[in-house]
Amino acid sequence: MHASPVGTPKPAHLFDRDAEWTGLVSFAADARPGATLGVVSGRRRQGKSYLLQGLATALGGIYFPALELTETVSLRLFADELIRFSGSPVPPFRDWLDAIPYLFRLAGDRIVPVVIDEFPFLAKASPGLPSIIQRELGPGGSGSTSRTRLLLCGSAMSVMGGLLSGSAPLRGRAGFELIVHPFGYRDAARFWGITDPKLAVLVHSVVGGTPAYRRELLRDDAPADLADFDPWVIRSVLNPQTPLFREARYLLAEETEIRDPSLYHSVLAAVAEGNNTSGGIASYIGRKSNEVAHPLRVLEDSRLLIKEPDLFRSGRARYRIAEPLITFYQAIMSREWARLELGGGSAVWSGARARFLSQVTGPHFEAICRDYAIEADPAVFGGPPGQIGSGVVSDPANRTQIQIDVAMLAPAEHGRPRKILSLGEVKWDRVMDLRHVERLRRARDLLAVKGFDTRHTVLACYSGAGFDRELLASQRPDIRLVGVDQLYAHERHTVSGARARTGPPACG
Ligand SMILES: Nc1ncnc2c1ncn2[C@@H]1O[C@H](COP(=O)(O)OP(=O)(O)OP(=O)(O)O)[C@@H](O)[C@H]1O
Ligand SMILES: [Mg+2]
Repeated sequence: MHASPVGTPKPAHLFDRDAEWTGLVSFAADARPGATLGVVSGRRRQGKSYLLQGLATALGGIYFPALELTETVSLRLFADELIRFSGSPVPPFRDWLDAIPYLFRLAGDRIVPVVIDEFPFLAKASPGLPSIIQRELGPGGSGSTSRTRLLLCGSAMSVMGGLLSGSAPLRGRAGFELIVHPFGYRDAARFWGITDPKLAVLVHSVVGGTPAYRRELLRDDAPADLADFDPWVIRSVLNPQTPLFREARYLLAEETEIRDPSLYHSVLAAVAEGNNTSGGIASYIGRKSNEVAHPLRVLEDSRLLIKEPDLFRSGRARYRIAEPLITFYQAIMSREWARLELGGGSAVWSGARARFLSQVTGPHFEAICRDYAIEADPAVFGGPPGQIGSGVVSDPANRTQIQIDVAMLAPAEHGRPRKILSLGEVKWDRVMDLRHVERLRRARDLLAVKGFDTRHTVLACYSGAGFDRELLASQRPDIRLVGVDQLYAHERHTVSGARARTGPPACG
């Protein structure tokens, strides 16, 4: 018997990713007979390879990074990798029909994790490869006498998503699926070594939670403090000498299915400008609604756009750009590209700063507040949420609409009115006051008329700039005030008495 690798500790160099590591180790160390398949995906530069290299090293497995090469050359490199692993000669492979069964037999009865990274490159050169893997994993295939733990990894979301869907050969074969996401906003702040919550929000609204943006793309240049934020923007993302400068453009170009980049750039520009319904996007770019349906779907599949339903108007939805850097590029950089390439970052930034706050940070801060609400202690809002999003409540008497930035619904219960846990308004750079609460109260009344259960609905004000004296003094049990400090407090929040801990008092 071999020592059990279950519980292999996470390597120290790997930040966060605890759940991912636990899942990978339990898949890769599973002792049951028969080869098994796992699929790891996620957008570019989120740390998939970093994680899987760590796994292969920790468990003594094989890590094979595929390149964009012909089948013959890839097979030769694969054989080299197997020679390195086993220390003995490997017969030349004519095709993957030779190579996959050889791989499965190589380990004997040992449990061996085998990572094939950048799998879409292999599948492109050898379209039959998924079927070969499927057959060898199936009944009577070479995998039945093996304990290989095969992990296919890739970032082309259009390919990886398709691998397991519909009539794809590998559908139903994978016993493990992992999507590596960007770090959450709190973890991103820790990763960047930022402790000032205001600075953390600003930085997150530019670079989000993609680990490589700090390491490779900026060589660890993080702003020292709030005063260093503007100089940092100019010397980092707006500086044509950093790889981050071109990253937003590459992200789109790398998504293999996108053939008409100008159309896709225009769709993203529309959303970044605040046109976020499918009709609004179509009219912004000068196309018909049905013509934007396809690019919207492709951008959604590649996880660059997220479609979010309006929680109070069924059938309506808004689109949101998933990657902050793309919003930043579309709102700030694209129109000034020529000037930026010539090194004019400083001038561009002083002209764009106001737009940055309103078009980039403002909406981004709303998204952060929704993420906070998802993870908040159920006691803060009176119960665990079933759905969190935004929505619009129409107010016919006043002929207006009330935008709800953070709406929290309790899980649906059959035959009962849907319970609203909380209605929230978000302001990044404005001190909030009782008028904001009034608007939320009005929305609550209107929703009660529409049949929602609002008896315990909490009215929440989220502010990056604090709350005025009157609001702070109003000791009402149905009001929560959430400041930036609270958004970044690491422990789950516990409530003493009726109110959550308040943020810092009003400040400029
Ligand atoms: N958990 C982590 N802890 C510390 N650094 C990380 C972590 N994840 C990623 N990084 C940093 O980000 C870099 C990029 O990660 P990696 O190359 O693994 O991304 P990827 O998802 O494989 O991207 P691609 O799709 O482009 O291949 C790493 O080289 C490393 O510097
Ligand atoms: Mg990689």
